[in-house]
Amino acid sequence: MATTTTEVTATAVRLVDIHKTYPGREPVHALRGVSLELAAGSVTAVVGQSGSGKSTLLNCAAGLDTPSRGAVVVGGHELTVLRPDDLTRFRREHVGFVFQAYNLIGHLTARENVRLPLALAGRAVDLVWESALLELLGVADLMDRLPGELSGGQAQRVAIARALITRPAVVFADEPTGALDSRTGAAVLDVLSETARRLGQTVVVVTHDATVAAAAERVVVLADGLVVDHLERPTAEQVTARLLAKGR
Ligand SMILES: Nc1ncnc2c1ncn2[C@@H]1O[C@H](COP(=O)(O)OP(=O)(O)OP(=O)(O)O)[C@@H](O)[C@H]1O
Ligand SMILES: [Mg+2]
Repeated sequence: MATTTTEVTATAVRLVDIHKTYPGREPVHALRGVSLELAAGSVTAVVGQSGSGKSTLLNCAAGLDTPSRGAVVVGGHELTVLRPDDLTRFRREHVGFVFQAYNLIGHLTARENVRLPLALAGRAVDLVWESALLELLGVADLMDRLPGELSGGQAQRVAIARALITRPAVVFADEPTGALDSRTGAAVLDVLSETARRLGQTVVVVTHDATVAAAAERVVVLADGLVVDHLERPTAEQVTARLLAKGR
């Protein structure tokens, strides 16, 4: 890739008619033509029934998986035309990912976990940024602990610090609050939104939880591989009603 600077674009993530078919004896059409535009600095939740294609969508948007058809443009770069090496580098530089199960490495301290993406990219630690981030997430005092010595909410906040340490332009989170109760989950999403706002980051979060979804500015409803609705600043009740509605 010729440039490593983040382009300033009004649209941070653009998906154009994404299709994803998992091959096999009976191919699964997980995404059947999804188009989405996410404004830079926006926080979007993706909701939908189990199997509706949420993880597939997130993985394609983050460059962790390749769509069968369609274009994924992140920060002005079209991911679908990058070679694997360039895609890996792009992800390291511009994208943060938070997983449901934290994926912290058990024998590394919280601090070593947080710094791992920098170590992998051969980048120096920005101590000022690191300490600001840890303060904001409320985990500064936990850095010498092992992941097994943290509560679920603490572990997830450490995982978020790890995703944000490289200051990625876009943060994708797949059920980051899935192992937490609704209140802790919404609090974790609030922290994610707050850092995003301060950093001008774009956040996309998959969740089953209507309370968590309602903490986002926009909720995209997925059903059977298609976007079937957009809700702007919905309440948790509106998200729940939409998820329970017939004709998904
Ligand atoms: N690697 C794979 N190979 C074959 N089919 C897959 C694969 N991954 C997902 N699928 C199928 O694609 C569809 C969408 O799956 P996906 O994981 O995106 O759903 P989801 O909305 O994230 O569900 P959940 O809420 O349960 O996590 C499902 O029918 C699933 O069985
Ligand atoms: Mg999923």
